[in-house]
Amino acid sequence: MRAYELRNDRSDSPALLERSQPQPGFGQVLVKMRAASLNYRDLLVAKGSYGAKEFKPIVPLSDGSGEVVALGEGVTRVAVGDRVAGIFMQGFISGELTPEKSGSALGGAIDGVLAEYVVFDQQGLVKIPDFLSYEEAATLPCAAVTAWNALVVEGQLKAGETVLLLGTGGVSLFALQFAKMAGAKVILTSSSDEKLERARQLGADAGINYRTMPDWEEKVWALTDGRGVDHVVEVGGSATLSKSLRSVRYGGKIAMIGVLNGTTGEVNTSAILHKQVRVQGIYVGSRDMFEEMNRAIALHQIHPVIDRVFPFEEARSAMTYLESGSHFGKVVVGISG
Ligand SMILES: NC(=O)c1ccc[n+]([C@@H]2O[C@H](COP(=O)([O-])OP(=O)(O)OC[C@H]3O[C@@H](n4cnc5c(N)ncnc54)[C@H](OP(=O)(O)O)[C@@H]3O)[C@@H](O)[C@H]2O)c1
Repeated sequence: MRAYELRNDRSDSPALLERSQPQPGFGQVLVKMRAASLNYRDLLVAKGSYGAKEFKPIVPLSDGSGEVVALGEGVTRVAVGDRVAGIFMQGFISGELTPEKSGSALGGAIDGVLAEYVVFDQQGLVKIPDFLSYEEAATLPCAAVTAWNALVVEGQLKAGETVLLLGTGGVSLFALQFAKMAGAKVILTSSSDEKLERARQLGADAGINYRTMPDWEEKVWALTDGRGVDHVVEVGGSATLSKSLRSVRYGGKIAMIGVLNGTTGEVNTSAILHKQVRVQGIYVGSRDMFEEMNRAIALHQIHPVIDRVFPFEEARSAMTYLESGSHFGKVVVGISG
C-alpha cells in the first residue's frame, strides 16, 4: 500500500512510500481509508514545532474516514463494511483529559491516517453519519470536535447568546454551524471581505475585517451594545487574547484553542479577574463528545464546509495550500475509490 511519511528532520514535506499493508491484531480493525483532512496542527507537526521533542518518522494527519475491511479477533464495536472515522486521541474515550490520553494523538504521538490502509484499535473509531460523504466525515475528528467541546460541552452555549469567532478556518466554521444550530448570534472576523460574505451566507450575523479594522474589538463592543460577547472561540493565541478579553462580557467565556499568532506575549490579566472571565483550555475532545456531536450533525443535517479536495498524490500541495491561508473551511485529501 501507499502511505506518506514525515522523515528526516521534519523540515521536509512528507514522502510518499510503499509500505506493507498492516494486519489487524486482537481488538483491532483494518480500515481502507477513503479521505483525510488537514488541520493547522499538521503544518506544525511537519515543521517539528508541535509536540514531541525527539523526532521519529510518522505517518502524518490525524483526521480520516474510511471503510472497515477486516477485523481482528475480539472486535465487537464495528463490522466489516461500516463507515468510520478515527478519533483524534486514540485513548481519549470519555471523562477528563489525562497525560496518557493526551499522548495518544494520531499523526503526532503515533502514526496518522495519510495512508491507504490504517489499523485502529476498535475503541479508537466512531461510525460516521450516513448522509455525509467520506470527504465530509474526514473533517470531523479534530476541528469539529474541538468546536463542539468549546461551545457545547465546556461552553454550555444557550440560544440567544452571542459568540465571537476568529477567522474562517476549520474550527471557526464548525463553531459557526454549531452556534447557529443552537440559536446563537455569531460575530466573525476575517482577513477577507469575500470570506466574510461567504460566512454571512452560512448564517454569521456580523462580520469584521481584522486587516482593515485592526481595533476590531471596539466594533465587537459596539455590535453588542457595550455588553460584550458571551463566548469567544480563541483560535488566535497570544496576539489576539487581549482583544478577546476586551470583547467578552463580564462573566463570559473564552475557549483557548489556537496558536495561529503565537503562544507567548504580554497579556493584561486584570481583565480576566475584573470581568470574572472564564478562560478554558480546549484540547480537541473525547470519543463520547464525537458521538454526541455526530447525533446533532445528523439531526440538523449539517454538512461540513469543504474548500477543496486534493487527490492522494497531491497531498503535499494540499499542505502548501493550507499554509497559504487562502482556504475557507476544510482542505481534504481523497484517498481511494
Ligand atoms: N486546541 C485544540 O484542540 C485545537 C484543535 C484544532 C485546532 N487548533 C488550533 O486552532 C487554530 C486554528 O486551527 P484550524 O485548523 O481551524 O486552522 P485553519 O483551518 O488553517 O484556519 C486558519 C484561519 O484562521 C484565520 N487566521 C489566521 N491568523 C489569524 C489571526 N491572527 N487572527 C484571526 N484569524 C486568523 C485565517 O482566516 P481568514 O483568512 O478568514 O482571516 C486562516 O485562514 C490553530 O492554531 C490550530 O493549531 C487547536
